[in-house]
Order: sequence, then structure tokens, then C-alpha cells
Amino acid sequence: MSNRGFFHFSALPMSTRMVYTMTLLVLGTGYLFAMLQVFFSHAGLDGNAKNISAQDIRIAYHGSESDTRLVAALKGPMAGMLPESERAVIFKWVESGAKPETFESDVKPIMAERCLACHDGSNPHIPLLTSFEEVSKVVAKDTGATIPTLVRVSHIHLFGITFIFFIVSSIFTHAYMRPLWLKCVIIVLPFLTILTDIFSWYLTKWIPGFAWFIIISGALMGISFTAQWLISMWQMWFYTLPADIEECGGALPVLGRKQ
Ligand code: HEC
Repeated sequence: MSNRGFFHFSALPMSTRMVYTMTLLVLGTGYLFAMLQVFFSHAGLDGNAKNISAQDIRIAYHGSESDTRLVAALKGPMAGMLPESERAVIFKWVESGAKPETFESDVKPIMAERCLACHDGSNPHIPLLTSFEEVSKVVAKDTGATIPTLVRVSHIHLFGITFIFFIVSSIFTHAYMRPLWLKCVIIVLPFLTILTDIFSWYLTKWIPGFAWFIIISGALMGISFTAQWLISMWQMWFYTLPADIEECGGALPVLGRKQ
């Protein structure tokens, strides 16, 4: 294979290397902020805000498989706040569609007596249960991201991430790396994983198990980005080429050599 077009970083003008370095620095910072954004928008969906889990990803795209927040709370931490018979009244109200008329007659009196001591707004971190409108917010079924939202985010990601990796991998082409297939895999990976990532969002909306595809796609993309970033920066400023390539001014010798 001819490598007439290959020039190592060390063969590039100082000004070009400055452009590459600064671009990588800013894109690397952007990647860190993207990771923070993923954390802030997903961690805590499963009730644990300290980390991001597969369950968080499932809930974000598929919705919560468990009950509404109200029923989940009444089966869990709020179970002891009221007698069983009154709890059954609230469950029945939710099952029959959480209607405003029956709220006033059946549910409101119970909540006034059992819940409002805490859920009256005095604690801003727990849901208000003072009116039908407020209670409605905790009985809405969580169905995850909507299709219009997914479509919007998909087109932004497909364009945006392709731009980013076109830039990063164009820079990375100037790295010297053997075996050559490994270099090619590192370059191809993010373009494939942006596709599997985005298609998995839609699959996860229907089948929650596909959350793992989203996680694996994101992880492989991150590994490729990190590898390209580190290898490019290192070879741009600190690396010495093997002597035979160095002699050719950073271009791979063409004749009599299999690359
Ligand atoms: C003694 C105070 C107190 C009373 C009384 C109380 N709660 Fe709570 N409730 C809390 C606190 C504190 C939290 C937040 C911590 C937690 O989720 O355990 C909470 C959380 C909740 C949540 C939100 C759970 C989530 O998904 O974040 C719901 C819904 C809820 N309570 C419903 C009720 C209902 C219905 C009643 C009455 C039957 C009730 N609570 C009575 C203190 C109270």
C-alpha cells in the first residue's frame, strides 16, 4: 500500500500543529462538559442521585416501569403515613384515572389529614399535595422521552458528533500507529457508535433492555475520543518517529515497503 499522502505530525508546520493542539484542547473540554450534561440530566431518575446507572438510562428513554410516583411512594417510604383502608382509596382513585371530581370527594380529605403536615410547601424538596393540580403531577405515568424529543436530539447529535469526529480523526490521521488496522478501528468506531447510540434510543423506548446498547456505544465512543486525543497530543509534541521514517521527513517511505 502506498503512503504517499501520509505526513507525521512532526513533518507539519508549527502553525498547523498549533491549530490542531488548540482545537483538541477546546474539543476535549467540550467532551468533559458533555459528560457532565449526561450526568446532570440522567443521574437520580432511579432515586439515587449520586451515580448514573443502567436504570437511569432505561427510565430516561423508556419511562419508569414501576408505578406512578404517588403509588410508588405509598407502597414505599410513605406507606406508614396512613391506614391501609385509606391507602386503598387513593390506589383506587389512581387506577380509575385520577379524576378531579373524585379527588375532591375521596382523596383530598385523606391527604389533608395524613399528608399535608409535611406536603404543604413548608419543605420545598418534597411534592406539594395541596390541590388536584399538584397531586396530578405525581400521578402522571412516566413514559420516558417522547418521539419528537428523540428526533430533535437525534439530528443535533448526528450532525454535531460527525463534525467533532471528522475534525478529531482528521488530526489523528497524522499519528504513526502500528498495526494499521488498529488505527483504522479507532477512527471508524465513533462514526459507527453514533449510529448505534441513536438507534438504541428508539429501541430502548420500546424495549428497556436496549439501554445497554446506549451505554456500550457511549463508552466505545469515549474510548476512541480519548485514544485519538492522547495519541495526537503526545505524538505532536513529545514523540520521536522510528529512524527510517524520520529520514523521509515524516512521510512513510513508498517503495519496497509493505505498510
Ligand atoms: C412526616 C412527614 C410526611 C408525611 C406526613 C408524608 N410525607 Fe410524603 N414525603 C416526606 C418526605 C420527607 C419525602 C421525601 C423523602 C422520601 O422520598 O422518602 C416525601 C416524599 C413523598 C413523595 C415523593 C416521592 C418521590 O417520588 O420523590 C410522595 C408522592 C409522597 N411523599 C406522598 C405522600 C402522601 C400521599 C402522604 C400522605 C398519605 C405523605 N406523603 C405523607 C414526608 C412526609
